[in-house]
Amino acid sequence: MTKIPVHLDINGTHHQLELEPRVTLLDALRDRLGLTGTKKGCDHGQCGACTVHVDGERVLACLTLAAQAEGRTITTIEGLAREGELHPVQAAFLEQDAFQCGYCTPGQIMSAVACIREGHAGSDEEIREYMAGNLCRCGAYPHIVAAVRQAALEVAS
Ligand code: FES
Ligand code: FES
Repeated sequence: MTKIPVHLDINGTHHQLELEPRVTLLDALRDRLGLTGTKKGCDHGQCGACTVHVDGERVLACLTLAAQAEGRTITTIEGLAREGELHPVQAAFLEQDAFQCGYCTPGQIMSAVACIREGHAGSDEEIREYMAGNLCRCGAYPHIVAAVRQAALEVAS
């Protein structure tokens, strides 16, 4: 199939790729750019493991074509830490033991960052509601909610 040039701005770095038009952002990140922190779970928009930010909003990379993300600002889990310091949400996940196998964790963290930024982390109920698109097969939900609550308080203070 014919390839098209796709320019992607990811975690502050510009990438120039030649991709088939049907390639998803998830496959471009993982298979072409080696950014494997973004996980492939269901590949059908149902688990949230592939959550990244595009222009600051969370999107499911498995349902987004790489070409659709051209010219927009993409942030993946690899781009959250700043100058060697974990993002407050990453630190809170560690402190609260909010993962077991860790497969869902990058997506959970990317969703949590957006959830807090959107102002949807005011209560455990609200956190559960706005994080509902991120599934955890290990059932770490109580710890995940605790981590998001802790990070939201830290970000607000
Ligand atoms: S891999 Fe994208 S939602 Fe499951
Ligand atoms: S920690 Fe294993 S799926 Fe969530």
